[in-house]
Amino acid sequence: MSVGKRVIKAGLRHLGYGTRRSEALAKRGPPASIPEPPPVDPIWPLPRHPGGRSDEEIRSEFAKYEFWHYPHEFEGGLSFPPRHNIPSPLVDIPERHLQRFKHFMPYLVQAQNGSLAGKRILDIACNCGFYSIQCALLGAEVVGFDARVELVEQANLVKSIVGVDKVEFRVLDFWDMSPETLGGTFDAVLSLGILYHLPNPLDALQLTKFMAREAILLDTAVSRSDKPVFDLKWEEPTDIRMATSSGIVAHPSRSAIDMMLKHIGAADGLRFPFALPI
Ligand SMILES: C[S@@+](CC[C@H](N)C(=O)[O-])C[C@H]1O[C@@H](n2cnc3c(N)ncnc32)[C@H](O)[C@@H]1O
Repeated sequence: MSVGKRVIKAGLRHLGYGTRRSEALAKRGPPASIPEPPPVDPIWPLPRHPGGRSDEEIRSEFAKYEFWHYPHEFEGGLSFPPRHNIPSPLVDIPERHLQRFKHFMPYLVQAQNGSLAGKRILDIACNCGFYSIQCALLGAEVVGFDARVELVEQANLVKSIVGVDKVEFRVLDFWDMSPETLGGTFDAVLSLGILYHLPNPLDALQLTKFMAREAILLDTAVSRSDKPVFDLKWEEPTDIRMATSSGIVAHPSRSAIDMMLKHIGAADGLRFPFALPI
């Protein structure tokens, strides 16, 4: 089930946030009073740094990779579609990454006192770097990592075309993430599309919280169950959006996420409605 749930936790208390619930969650508690954040638009098409590669050179670099998770558009009309080994009507929607950005990034920016400028941000499982590069274009110092070498190469390619220098991409497995491996902790951590590709959501959330000083932005598929459960699934690494090796992954239900957040001391997070048109 591709249902998103976003939680921005920690550091929000000082902003006076309560909990806002989607209609689906309304029965669980009283409506909350969270100010709607001002919109934040992605910088799209992506800028190209002056004097950089020609269209032909960029086309040739993109062609080296068979699969791309996000589409790319660059200033001047140069564009590339997403390509997956296993096409998915949801993931291959060309506007999807922009919709997701518009949906949850305003809450992150608001949680960081209205600006990402100078903030240190970690993008876990960054794929080819869309969110990392957007955060860097918004003025953040970003570290993005992914376990797949070719995706980190792609991210570095896009970075070099855009000419943004405040982002560093690393090849790293999720479970090797630590303040030691990543040069300290981060003001905000993006956990987007990774929790449900891992076998142990509680350990994963604990490790994620360990990396975050102020905020975690969590976007995950969840189990449909009303009970606090994990749906275990077997995942094969058949596509660049999947786990990197064969094995069990766990899709927690909403209430399991609530319980895990409570367990790790992040129970009073901010939840906001799922808004992608699926
Ligand atoms: C569904 S994609 C999400 C990409 C991006 N975060 C987003 O939300 O658009 C999942 C990503 O997790 C990466 N990944 C899977 N298992 C990983 C692991 N153990 N450590 C680091 N990255 C992993 C994949 O290579 C892929 O880029």
